[in-house]
Amino acid sequence: MNYQWYPGHMTKAKRMMQENIGLIDLVIELVDARIPFSSRNPDIDELGKNKSRIILLNKSDLADASANRLWMDYFMQKGFHVLEVNARSGQGLKSIHALVREACKDKIERDRKRGIKNRPIRAIVVGIPNVGKSTFINSFAGKACTKTGNKPGVTKGKQWIRMNKELELLDTPGILWPKFESKEVGRNLALIGSMNDEILEMTELAGDLIAYLLMHYREQLSDRYQMDEPDDMTTPLTVLTHICENRKCYKKGQEADYEKASSIVMEDFRSGRIGRITLELPGDTESVRITDGIEEITE
Ligand code: G4P
Repeated sequence: MNYQWYPGHMTKAKRMMQENIGLIDLVIELVDARIPFSSRNPDIDELGKNKSRIILLNKSDLADASANRLWMDYFMQKGFHVLEVNARSGQGLKSIHALVREACKDKIERDRKRGIKNRPIRAIVVGIPNVGKSTFINSFAGKACTKTGNKPGVTKGKQWIRMNKELELLDTPGILWPKFESKEVGRNLALIGSMNDEILEMTELAGDLIAYLLMHYREQLSDRYQMDEPDDMTTPLTVLTHICENRKCYKKGQEADYEKASSIVMEDFRSGRIGRITLELPGDTESVRITDGIEEITE
């Protein structure tokens, strides 16, 4: 499958980021905890150099808890300040203030030495589309936030959300363009639903996902669809055939409707109904955990 995505928007997104980055002290970068590698664009490291950095493993409720810990360690070792969060429920967000203080302690100390008091940290939230940036800003800032804009030193039109006397958040998140440097990254983004499904081959995608689940999350898969070992669980095709029978996915003439069964699996995965699943681990080089699984159906 050829994964492509709105390249036209990327230049604009990059320009906006370059414009805003000069105004801020701290970059709060959201990644999807199910694919922390594939949902990052390392260009942010160049754009955000000399800034304090926080990485939030968002949607951690959908990702494997043990994998979340591995990714936390991985990013911490790389020098980031890291937290697992669920922007939708608000879980983990309370710890952010302490993390901000820790991440920005050099700047706070510098200001203190220069006699500058009460200058808040200015932060921007960044991430690729659909990673949860807006949800995060809404949950974190809450309803009680005050917007401050057009103050001296603030570019006209920029709106800052005053979180408290220590922190101000730019109300518009920075959009990072996803990177498509490998087929696997594109596929991971497609799997979590970060791409327009209309351009994707659902059966092929579901086949890849099932192949992965058979290898790494077998029990969750068999529990979800009440499958028997080993017969139903030999290949992605046997799994989809079972789901067709189990969920009565048939076309006219009792022909198995693999497209429908594939959509069911994809939807169940994306909403967490199969369980908490992580698609890549820090040790995987270029995130190659997922291998092609369904040639036998699509050929
Ligand atoms: P963006 O600004 O980065 O583009 O992302 P946005 O906040 O629009 O979030 C994209 C989707 O991800 C939303 O779902 C949102 O609810 C969901 N989401 C964000 N954070 C989390 C999280 O930590 N856990 C889970 N499980 N979901 C999260 P949606 O279906 O598009 O919208 P809605 O039905 O929730 O309104």
